[in-house]
Amino acid sequence: MLLSLAFLLFATPTALGKKLTDEENENREKFCGRYVPGYQSAAGEEDQFKSLYGRPVEEVVPWAVAIHLLDDQGRSSFRGTGTLISPRHVLTATHLLEPEPDCKRGKIVGVKFSAKDFAVVMNVTCAVRAACEKLGRQDQFVIHTVANIYSFPGFLGAKCPSMIAYGDISIFELENDIPFGPTVYPACVPRTSDPVGLEDKLNIFGFGSDPADKEWQRSGIMKTFPSMKKECTSGDLNTTGVFCSESAKKELACSGDSGSGIVRKRPGKPTVEVVGILSGGRNCIDLLKEHEIQQRYGRLMTTAQDYLVEVSYFLTFICNASGVCPVENEA
Ligand SMILES: *[C@@H]1O[C@H](CO)[C@@H](O)[C@H](O)[C@H]1NC(C)=O
Ligand SMILES: *[C@@H]1O[C@H](CO)[C@@H](O)[C@H](O)[C@H]1NC(C)=O
Ligand SMILES: *[C@@H]1O[C@H](CO)[C@@H](O)[C@H](O)[C@H]1NC(C)=O
Repeated sequence: MLLSLAFLLFATPTALGKKLTDEENENREKFCGRYVPGYQSAAGEEDQFKSLYGRPVEEVVPWAVAIHLLDDQGRSSFRGTGTLISPRHVLTATHLLEPEPDCKRGKIVGVKFSAKDFAVVMNVTCAVRAACEKLGRQDQFVIHTVANIYSFPGFLGAKCPSMIAYGDISIFELENDIPFGPTVYPACVPRTSDPVGLEDKLNIFGFGSDPADKEWQRSGIMKTFPSMKKECTSGDLNTTGVFCSESAKKELACSGDSGSGIVRKRPGKPTVEVVGILSGGRNCIDLLKEHEIQQRYGRLMTTAQDYLVEVSYFLTFICNASGVCPVENEA
């Protein structure tokens, strides 16, 4: 009896979720966005790091997470991309859960996928093992299970007029903390609600496919491209907590990039912070076809926009769900 009571007491905090404690949050803020030896370290990582550069790998993006769906047999398939923001929280897009919206009442009434259906993989340059094997890369695929998912309650999505990216933000809380190392650490989260500036240099990181690659070889390979915030050109878009971006070389996020973090360097700091979550945009295959026709006739190529969630707009939601909160008086 005593034993089971003790177990109950012990188990309760897990059932209520595992927000960061104040101390964990302060450490996160101090050490996020770069590699800090000793912070949440994986054993032996430093030695292994030396050999990392001995083999021909594309670099791991330390905060980027491949999100997988698990089936009944425990097999996993690639679903989207996310951003690690603490030892056990991943920031991503709600539409990966395939929510059923009630557009009139302004809320989600159901989701197709929940925490038990998902797993995340970190420290890899390919979304799935097969892609890395094909390239002869030695990445190890360690599956991390998801304990809880917290979704912003107001998200409706593309099924509701003009609501495509509005509130498309979820936090995956992992069952176990992730050990950090030079190739695994969380991105910082903005400390103030200031929106992204038009001058900020942004980079999107995602495991999505690239239809311009005829062999589809880069399908599921981590890629990145620079981007800038722009005035949204679509009139039919609720831009509350949403911003639009364009890339100078007309690159566009594609299928599999959903949920990807868009990051920037913190002003005057060596740290990386996640300021946007990729939600939607023009269909890549359609855009590619349009570009091919435009090139054939020597016309100007269309620039399409990506739609992103403005992370700084959702700091209260993030803080309440995960304990990743703005820290006061940070030097
Ligand atoms: C990342 O993966 C490499 C092998 O690909 C491994 O040596 C290293 O320990 C991993 N780092 C972490 C923090 O899991
Ligand atoms: C965007 O959607 C939110 C939530 O439904 C709503 O409160 C807001 O008024 C909308 N903004 C515009 C410009 O329609
Ligand atoms: C805070 O998070 C809890 C647990 O996810 C949720 O039930 C509650 O509605 C949230 N409160 C606010 C103000 O967002």
